[in-house]
Amino acid sequence: MFRFLAVVFAAVAVGCVVPAQAQGTVKIGALLPMTGPQQSTGVQIAAAIHLYMVQHGDTVAGRKIQVIVKDDGAVAEASRRLAQELIVNEKVDVLAGFGVTPTAFAVSPLATEAKIPQIVMAAGTSSVTERSPYVVRTSFTLAQSSVIMAEWALKNGIKKVISMVSDFAPGIDSENFFRDAFLKGGGEISQFIRIPLTNPDFAPFLQRARDARPDAVFIFVPSGQGGIFVRQFVERGLDKAGIKIIGPGDVTDDDLLNGMGDAVIGTVTAHMYSAYHPSPLNKDYVAAMRKANRNMRPNFMSVGGYDGMHVVYAALEKTQGKTGGDALVGAMKGMAWESPRGPISIDPETRDIVQNIYMRRVEKVEGELYNVEFETFPAVKDAGKIKK
Ligand code: DHB
Repeated sequence: MFRFLAVVFAAVAVGCVVPAQAQGTVKIGALLPMTGPQQSTGVQIAAAIHLYMVQHGDTVAGRKIQVIVKDDGAVAEASRRLAQELIVNEKVDVLAGFGVTPTAFAVSPLATEAKIPQIVMAAGTSSVTERSPYVVRTSFTLAQSSVIMAEWALKNGIKKVISMVSDFAPGIDSENFFRDAFLKGGGEISQFIRIPLTNPDFAPFLQRARDARPDAVFIFVPSGQGGIFVRQFVERGLDKAGIKIIGPGDVTDDDLLNGMGDAVIGTVTAHMYSAYHPSPLNKDYVAAMRKANRNMRPNFMSVGGYDGMHVVYAALEKTQGKTGGDALVGAMKGMAWESPRGPISIDPETRDIVQNIYMRRVEKVEGELYNVEFETFPAVKDAGKIKK
Protein backbone atom coordinates (compact mmCIF):
# COMPACT_ATOMS: atom_id res chain seq x y z
CA MET A 1 0.00 0.00 0.00
CA PHE A 2 2.84 2.29 0.91
CA ARG A 3 4.31 1.65 -2.51
CA PHE A 4 0.99 2.33 -4.25
CA LEU A 5 0.56 5.65 -2.53
CA ALA A 6 3.98 6.78 -3.60
CA VAL A 7 3.26 5.95 -7.20
CA VAL A 8 -0.23 7.43 -7.20
CA PHE A 9 1.38 10.61 -6.04
CA ALA A 10 3.79 10.41 -8.96
CA ALA A 11 0.84 9.85 -11.29
CA VAL A 12 -0.97 12.90 -10.05
CA ALA A 13 2.22 14.87 -10.53
CA VAL A 14 2.15 13.93 -14.23
CA GLY A 15 -0.88 16.15 -14.63
CA CYS A 16 1.00 18.99 -13.01
CA VAL A 17 4.22 18.78 -14.99
CA VAL A 18 2.96 21.43 -17.37
CA PRO A 19 0.38 23.94 -16.22
CA ALA A 20 -2.63 24.19 -18.52
CA GLN A 21 -1.65 27.00 -20.83
CA ALA A 22 -1.79 28.31 -24.40
CA GLN A 23 -3.12 26.53 -27.44
CA GLY A 24 0.37 25.21 -27.90
CA THR A 25 -0.24 22.47 -25.36
CA VAL A 26 -1.06 18.98 -26.57
CA LYS A 27 -3.31 17.41 -23.98
CA ILE A 28 -3.44 13.68 -23.37
CA GLY A 29 -6.31 12.42 -21.21
CA ALA A 30 -5.29 9.16 -19.53
CA LEU A 31 -8.18 7.05 -18.23
CA LEU A 32 -6.76 4.58 -15.75
CA PRO A 33 -7.89 2.44 -12.80
CA MET A 34 -5.98 4.21 -10.02
CA THR A 35 -8.25 2.65 -7.38
CA GLY A 36 -10.23 -0.59 -7.09
CA PRO A 37 -9.31 -4.16 -7.98
CA GLN A 38 -7.39 -3.16 -11.14
CA GLN A 39 -5.40 -0.51 -9.30
CA SER A 40 -2.02 -2.09 -10.00
CA THR A 41 -2.61 -1.67 -13.74
CA GLY A 42 -3.26 2.05 -13.33
CA VAL A 43 -0.33 2.52 -10.99
CA GLN A 44 2.08 0.73 -13.32
CA ILE A 45 0.93 2.62 -16.41
CA ALA A 46 0.88 6.03 -14.70
CA ALA A 47 4.41 5.41 -13.42
CA ALA A 48 5.58 4.47 -16.93
CA ILE A 49 3.96 7.56 -18.48
CA HIS A 50 5.67 9.70 -15.89
CA LEU A 51 9.04 8.05 -16.50
CA TYR A 52 8.69 8.48 -20.26
CA MET A 53 8.12 12.21 -19.82
CA VAL A 54 11.00 12.59 -17.39
CA GLN A 55 13.30 10.84 -19.87
CA HIS A 56 12.05 12.47 -23.08
CA GLY A 57 10.99 15.89 -21.90
CA ASP A 58 7.62 17.61 -22.06
CA THR A 59 7.98 19.32 -25.43
CA VAL A 60 7.62 17.66 -28.84
CA ALA A 61 7.85 19.46 -32.17
CA GLY A 62 7.63 22.73 -30.28
CA ARG A 63 4.47 21.78 -28.42
CA LYS A 64 4.16 21.24 -24.68
CA ILE A 65 2.73 17.90 -23.60
CA GLN A 66 0.32 17.68 -20.69
CA VAL A 67 -1.03 14.40 -19.37
CA ILE A 68 -4.22 14.50 -17.33
CA VAL A 69 -4.75 11.28 -15.36
CA LYS A 70 -8.36 10.42 -14.47
CA ASP A 71 -9.25 7.48 -12.26
CA ASP A 72 -12.03 5.42 -13.89
CA GLY A 73 -11.75 2.56 -11.37
CA ALA A 74 -11.90 0.20 -14.41
CA VAL A 75 -15.64 0.91 -14.62
CA ALA A 76 -16.92 1.37 -18.19
CA GLU A 77 -19.56 3.95 -17.35
CA ALA A 78 -17.10 6.08 -15.37
CA SER A 79 -14.57 5.87 -18.17
CA ARG A 80 -17.14 7.06 -20.72
CA ARG A 81 -18.23 9.96 -18.53
CA LEU A 82 -14.67 11.05 -17.77
CA ALA A 83 -13.68 10.76 -21.44
CA GLN A 84 -16.62 12.95 -22.37
CA GLU A 85 -15.52 15.56 -19.82
CA LEU A 86 -11.94 15.44 -21.06
CA ILE A 87 -13.09 15.97 -24.65
CA VAL A 88 -15.60 18.72 -23.95
CA ASN A 89 -14.00 20.64 -21.06
CA GLU A 90 -10.28 19.97 -21.42
CA LYS A 91 -10.33 19.66 -25.21
CA VAL A 92 -7.86 16.80 -25.08
CA ASP A 93 -6.07 15.89 -28.30
CA VAL A 94 -5.52 12.25 -27.37
CA LEU A 95 -7.27 9.72 -25.13
CA ALA A 96 -5.09 7.02 -23.61
CA GLY A 97 -4.97 4.32 -20.93
CA PHE A 98 -7.84 1.77 -20.72
CA GLY A 99 -6.91 -0.69 -18.02
CA VAL A 100 -9.60 -3.18 -19.02
CA THR A 101 -11.46 -4.02 -22.21
CA PRO A 102 -14.90 -2.75 -21.10
CA THR A 103 -13.50 0.77 -20.62
CA ALA A 104 -11.83 0.70 -24.05
CA PHE A 105 -15.12 -0.44 -25.61
CA ALA A 106 -17.09 2.26 -23.78
CA VAL A 107 -14.90 5.12 -24.98
CA SER A 108 -14.43 4.12 -28.65
CA PRO A 109 -17.62 5.79 -29.92
CA LEU A 110 -16.45 9.05 -28.33
CA ALA A 111 -13.01 8.82 -29.97
CA THR A 112 -14.72 8.24 -33.32
CA GLU A 113 -17.06 11.16 -32.84
CA ALA A 114 -14.33 13.54 -31.67
CA LYS A 115 -11.87 12.20 -34.28
CA ILE A 116 -9.03 11.85 -31.78
CA PRO A 117 -6.63 8.96 -31.21
CA GLN A 118 -7.53 6.37 -28.57
CA ILE A 119 -4.26 4.82 -27.42
CA VAL A 120 -5.03 1.49 -25.75
CA MET A 121 -2.21 0.82 -23.28
CA ALA A 122 -3.62 -2.23 -21.46
CA ALA A 123 -6.82 -3.84 -22.75
CA GLY A 124 -6.16 -7.10 -24.62
CA THR A 125 -9.33 -8.28 -26.36
CA SER A 126 -8.74 -8.72 -30.11
CA SER A 127 -11.77 -6.71 -31.22
CA VAL A 128 -10.75 -3.55 -29.29
CA THR A 129 -9.00 -2.12 -32.35
CA GLU A 130 -12.10 -2.68 -34.49
CA ARG A 131 -14.30 -0.44 -32.35
CA SER A 132 -12.94 2.79 -33.84
CA PRO A 133 -10.62 3.75 -36.71
CA TYR A 134 -8.83 5.94 -34.12
CA VAL A 135 -7.76 3.08 -31.82
CA VAL A 136 -4.05 2.27 -31.77
CA ARG A 137 -2.97 -0.47 -29.36
CA THR A 138 0.39 -0.64 -27.57
CA SER A 139 -0.46 -3.47 -25.15
CA PHE A 140 -1.06 -7.01 -26.45
CA THR A 141 -3.85 -9.39 -27.34
CA LEU A 142 -4.69 -12.59 -25.49
CA ALA A 143 -4.80 -14.36 -28.86
CA GLN A 144 -1.11 -13.58 -29.43
CA SER A 145 0.01 -15.55 -26.38
CA SER A 146 -2.77 -18.17 -26.08
CA VAL A 147 -2.19 -19.76 -29.51
CA ILE A 148 1.57 -20.00 -28.90
CA MET A 149 0.95 -21.44 -25.43
CA ALA A 150 -1.26 -24.17 -26.93
CA GLU A 151 1.33 -25.14 -29.52
CA TRP A 152 4.15 -25.23 -26.98
CA ALA A 153 2.09 -27.34 -24.55
CA LEU A 154 1.31 -29.93 -27.22
CA LYS A 155 4.99 -30.24 -28.14
CA ASN A 156 5.95 -30.64 -24.51
CA GLY A 157 3.82 -33.56 -23.41
CA ILE A 158 0.77 -31.64 -22.18
CA LYS A 159 -2.27 -33.36 -23.68
CA LYS A 160 -5.05 -33.14 -21.08
CA VAL A 161 -6.02 -29.69 -19.89
CA ILE A 162 -8.70 -27.90 -17.89
CA SER A 163 -9.37 -24.35 -19.02
CA MET A 164 -10.10 -21.68 -16.40
CA VAL A 165 -10.59 -18.06 -17.42
CA SER A 166 -11.85 -14.84 -15.96
CA ASP A 167 -15.39 -14.32 -17.23
CA PHE A 168 -15.06 -11.21 -19.36
CA ALA A 169 -13.98 -10.40 -22.90
CA PRO A 170 -10.21 -11.07 -22.72
CA GLY A 171 -10.86 -14.29 -20.77
CA ILE A 172 -13.29 -15.50 -23.43
CA ASP A 173 -10.71 -14.64 -26.13
CA SER A 174 -7.98 -16.60 -24.35
CA GLU A 175 -10.29 -19.59 -23.87
CA ASN A 176 -11.34 -19.59 -27.53
CA PHE A 177 -7.91 -19.10 -29.07
CA PHE A 178 -6.28 -21.65 -26.77
CA ARG A 179 -9.09 -24.16 -27.38
CA ASP A 180 -8.99 -23.92 -31.17
CA ALA A 181 -5.21 -24.34 -31.37
CA PHE A 182 -5.04 -27.05 -28.68
CA LEU A 183 -7.84 -29.20 -30.08
CA LYS A 184 -6.51 -28.82 -33.61
CA GLY A 185 -3.18 -30.26 -32.44
CA GLY A 186 -4.86 -33.28 -30.84
CA GLY A 187 -5.13 -32.03 -27.26
CA GLU A 188 -8.06 -32.67 -24.96
CA ILE A 189 -9.88 -30.13 -22.76
CA SER A 190 -12.21 -31.76 -20.26
CA GLN A 191 -13.66 -28.65 -18.59
CA PHE A 192 -14.18 -25.02 -19.50
CA ILE A 193 -14.54 -22.96 -16.34
CA ARG A 194 -15.27 -19.24 -16.22
CA ILE A 195 -14.61 -17.39 -12.96
CA PRO A 196 -16.33 -14.10 -12.05
CA LEU A 197 -14.07 -11.09 -12.56
CA THR A 198 -14.90 -9.52 -9.19
CA ASN A 199 -13.99 -11.31 -5.96
CA PRO A 200 -12.83 -14.45 -7.72
CA ASP A 201 -12.76 -17.70 -5.76
CA PHE A 202 -10.93 -20.42 -7.65
CA ALA A 203 -10.87 -22.95 -4.79
CA PRO A 204 -14.02 -25.02 -5.55
CA PHE A 205 -13.06 -25.29 -9.22
CA LEU A 206 -9.49 -26.18 -8.36
CA GLN A 207 -10.73 -28.99 -6.12
CA ARG A 208 -12.70 -30.43 -9.06
CA ALA A 209 -9.75 -29.87 -11.36
CA ARG A 210 -7.45 -31.82 -9.06
CA ASP A 211 -9.80 -34.79 -9.00
CA ALA A 212 -9.85 -34.82 -12.82
CA ARG A 213 -6.02 -35.16 -12.89
CA PRO A 214 -5.21 -33.13 -16.01
CA ASP A 215 -1.63 -32.52 -17.13
CA ALA A 216 -2.19 -28.78 -16.71
CA VAL A 217 -4.64 -26.02 -15.88
CA PHE A 218 -4.76 -23.36 -18.58
CA ILE A 219 -5.43 -20.12 -16.73
CA PHE A 220 -6.17 -16.54 -17.69
CA VAL A 221 -6.60 -14.04 -14.89
CA PRO A 222 -6.25 -10.29 -15.33
CA SER A 223 -3.21 -8.50 -13.98
CA GLY A 224 -3.49 -8.34 -10.19
CA GLN A 225 -5.22 -11.71 -9.64
CA GLY A 226 -2.35 -14.13 -10.23
CA GLY A 227 -1.40 -14.15 -6.55
CA ILE A 228 -4.82 -15.36 -5.37
CA PHE A 229 -4.95 -18.01 -8.06
CA VAL A 230 -1.52 -19.44 -7.26
CA ARG A 231 -2.19 -19.42 -3.51
CA GLN A 232 -5.41 -21.40 -3.96
CA PHE A 233 -3.75 -23.73 -6.49
CA VAL A 234 -1.07 -24.59 -3.94
CA GLU A 235 -3.52 -24.77 -0.99
CA ARG A 236 -5.58 -27.34 -2.89
CA GLY A 237 -2.43 -29.36 -3.55
CA LEU A 238 -2.51 -29.24 -7.35
CA ASP A 239 1.23 -28.56 -7.54
CA LYS A 240 1.92 -31.61 -5.34
CA ALA A 241 -0.34 -33.67 -7.62
CA GLY A 242 2.00 -32.79 -10.51
CA ILE A 243 -0.52 -30.55 -12.32
CA LYS A 244 1.11 -27.69 -14.19
CA ILE A 245 -0.04 -24.10 -14.62
CA ILE A 246 0.06 -22.85 -18.22
CA GLY A 247 -1.38 -19.74 -19.86
CA PRO A 248 -0.74 -16.22 -21.02
CA GLY A 249 1.80 -14.59 -18.69
CA ASP A 250 -0.80 -12.43 -16.93
CA VAL A 251 -0.86 -15.07 -14.15
CA THR A 252 2.87 -14.80 -13.36
CA ASP A 253 2.67 -11.01 -13.40
CA ASP A 254 5.98 -9.38 -12.46
CA ASP A 255 4.07 -7.17 -10.05
CA LEU A 256 3.12 -10.17 -7.90
CA LEU A 257 5.56 -12.92 -8.81
CA ASN A 258 7.91 -12.54 -5.85
CA GLY A 259 5.03 -13.03 -3.43
CA MET A 260 3.89 -16.29 -5.02
CA GLY A 261 6.53 -18.43 -3.33
CA ASP A 262 8.74 -21.21 -4.62
CA ALA A 263 5.77 -23.42 -5.62
CA VAL A 264 5.53 -21.37 -8.80
CA ILE A 265 9.13 -22.13 -9.88
CA GLY A 266 9.12 -23.99 -13.20
CA THR A 267 5.80 -22.55 -14.40
CA VAL A 268 5.87 -21.94 -18.16
CA THR A 269 3.81 -19.15 -19.72
CA ALA A 270 3.74 -17.26 -23.03
CA HIS A 271 3.87 -13.46 -22.96
CA MET A 272 5.21 -10.26 -24.46
CA TYR A 273 7.12 -8.84 -21.51
CA SER A 274 9.28 -9.98 -18.66
CA ALA A 275 11.11 -7.63 -16.32
CA TYR A 276 13.98 -10.09 -16.83
CA HIS A 277 14.11 -9.51 -20.62
CA PRO A 278 17.86 -9.34 -21.20
CA SER A 279 18.17 -6.29 -23.51
CA PRO A 280 20.22 -3.27 -22.38
CA LEU A 281 17.15 -1.07 -22.99
CA ASN A 282 15.06 -3.18 -20.64
CA LYS A 283 17.75 -3.29 -17.97
CA ASP A 284 17.81 0.51 -18.00
CA TYR A 285 13.99 0.63 -17.98
CA VAL A 286 13.68 -1.68 -14.98
CA ALA A 287 16.37 0.21 -13.09
CA ALA A 288 14.72 3.57 -13.82
CA MET A 289 11.23 2.33 -12.86
CA ARG A 290 12.57 0.86 -9.62
CA LYS A 291 14.44 4.03 -8.79
CA ALA A 292 11.48 6.32 -9.41
CA ASN A 293 8.87 4.15 -7.66
CA ARG A 294 10.27 2.80 -4.39
CA ASN A 295 11.75 -0.27 -6.02
CA MET A 296 8.54 -1.29 -7.85
CA ARG A 297 9.27 -3.92 -10.48
CA PRO A 298 7.66 -2.89 -13.78
CA ASN A 299 5.18 -5.37 -15.25
CA PHE A 300 3.68 -6.00 -18.70
CA MET A 301 1.09 -3.26 -18.22
CA SER A 302 3.77 -0.65 -17.64
CA VAL A 303 5.39 -1.16 -21.05
CA GLY A 304 2.01 -0.60 -22.73
CA GLY A 305 1.98 2.82 -21.08
CA TYR A 306 5.60 3.60 -21.90
CA ASP A 307 5.20 2.61 -25.55
CA GLY A 308 1.86 4.40 -25.74
CA MET A 309 3.70 7.62 -24.92
CA HIS A 310 6.27 6.78 -27.56
CA VAL A 311 3.65 6.48 -30.35
CA VAL A 312 2.20 9.86 -29.39
CA TYR A 313 5.61 11.58 -29.22
CA ALA A 314 6.86 9.99 -32.46
CA ALA A 315 3.61 10.77 -34.29
CA LEU A 316 3.77 14.42 -33.21
CA GLU A 317 7.33 14.60 -34.50
CA LYS A 318 6.18 13.18 -37.85
CA THR A 319 3.26 15.60 -38.14
CA GLN A 320 5.45 18.49 -36.90
CA GLY A 321 3.10 19.06 -34.02
CA LYS A 322 -0.15 18.79 -35.93
CA THR A 323 -2.88 17.04 -33.94
CA GLY A 324 -6.21 15.53 -35.05
CA GLY A 325 -6.95 11.83 -35.22
CA ASP A 326 -6.43 11.41 -38.94
CA ALA A 327 -2.98 13.01 -38.94
CA LEU A 328 -1.79 11.33 -35.74
CA VAL A 329 -3.20 7.85 -36.38
CA GLY A 330 -1.92 8.09 -39.97
CA ALA A 331 1.55 8.79 -38.58
CA MET A 332 1.32 5.89 -36.13
CA LYS A 333 0.44 3.28 -38.77
CA GLY A 334 3.46 1.16 -39.58
CA MET A 335 5.62 2.79 -36.91
CA ALA A 336 8.36 0.45 -35.62
CA TRP A 337 10.69 0.88 -32.66
CA GLU A 338 12.48 -0.88 -29.84
CA SER A 339 10.49 -1.25 -26.64
CA PRO A 340 11.82 -2.55 -23.32
CA ARG A 341 9.95 -5.75 -24.32
CA GLY A 342 11.86 -6.07 -27.64
CA PRO A 343 11.16 -4.86 -31.21
CA ILE A 344 7.55 -3.81 -31.83
CA SER A 345 5.48 -2.14 -34.55
CA ILE A 346 1.97 -0.92 -35.27
CA ASP A 347 0.30 -2.97 -38.01
CA PRO A 348 -0.65 -0.38 -40.67
CA GLU A 349 -3.79 -2.33 -41.60
CA THR A 350 -5.23 -3.07 -38.16
CA ARG A 351 -3.52 -0.46 -35.91
CA ASP A 352 -2.78 -3.34 -33.55
CA ILE A 353 0.58 -4.15 -32.04
CA VAL A 354 2.97 -6.64 -33.65
CA GLN A 355 5.50 -8.02 -31.17
CA ASN A 356 7.59 -10.96 -30.05
CA ILE A 357 5.95 -13.53 -27.85
CA TYR A 358 8.35 -15.26 -25.49
CA MET A 359 8.11 -18.62 -23.77
CA ARG A 360 9.26 -18.10 -20.18
CA ARG A 361 9.89 -20.28 -17.15
CA VAL A 362 9.75 -19.00 -13.58
CA GLU A 363 13.18 -19.27 -12.00
CA LYS A 364 14.85 -17.94 -8.91
CA VAL A 365 17.62 -15.54 -9.81
CA GLU A 366 19.67 -13.97 -7.03
CA GLY A 367 16.89 -14.56 -4.53
CA GLU A 368 14.05 -13.20 -6.67
CA LEU A 369 11.49 -14.97 -8.84
CA TYR A 370 11.51 -14.00 -12.52
CA ASN A 371 9.96 -15.12 -15.80
CA VAL A 372 13.11 -16.17 -17.66
CA GLU A 373 12.63 -16.20 -21.44
CA PHE A 374 13.87 -19.32 -23.28
CA GLU A 375 12.24 -19.16 -26.73
CA THR A 376 11.15 -16.27 -28.96
CA PHE A 377 8.34 -16.19 -31.52
CA PRO A 378 9.17 -13.06 -33.52
CA ALA A 379 6.78 -10.37 -34.80
CA VAL A 380 3.52 -12.06 -33.82
CA LYS A 381 0.34 -10.45 -35.15
CA ASP A 382 -3.04 -10.68 -33.47
CA ALA A 383 -4.47 -14.08 -34.45
CA GLY A 384 -7.94 -12.56 -34.07
CA LYS A 385 -7.39 -10.59 -37.26
CA ILE A 386 -5.36 -13.12 -39.22
CA LYS A 387 -8.27 -15.55 -38.90
CA LYS A 388 -10.70 -13.30 -40.74
C1 DHB B 1 -7.28 -7.20 -19.75
C2 DHB B 1 -7.02 -6.84 -18.44
C3 DHB B 1 -5.93 -7.38 -17.79
O1 DHB B 1 -5.64 -7.04 -16.52
C4 DHB B 1 -5.11 -8.33 -18.42
O2 DHB B 1 -4.08 -8.85 -17.76
C5 DHB B 1 -5.39 -8.69 -19.72
C6 DHB B 1 -6.47 -8.12 -20.38
C7 DHB B 1 -8.44 -6.62 -20.45
O3 DHB B 1 -9.37 -6.16 -19.80
O4 DHB B 1 -8.45 -6.62 -21.69
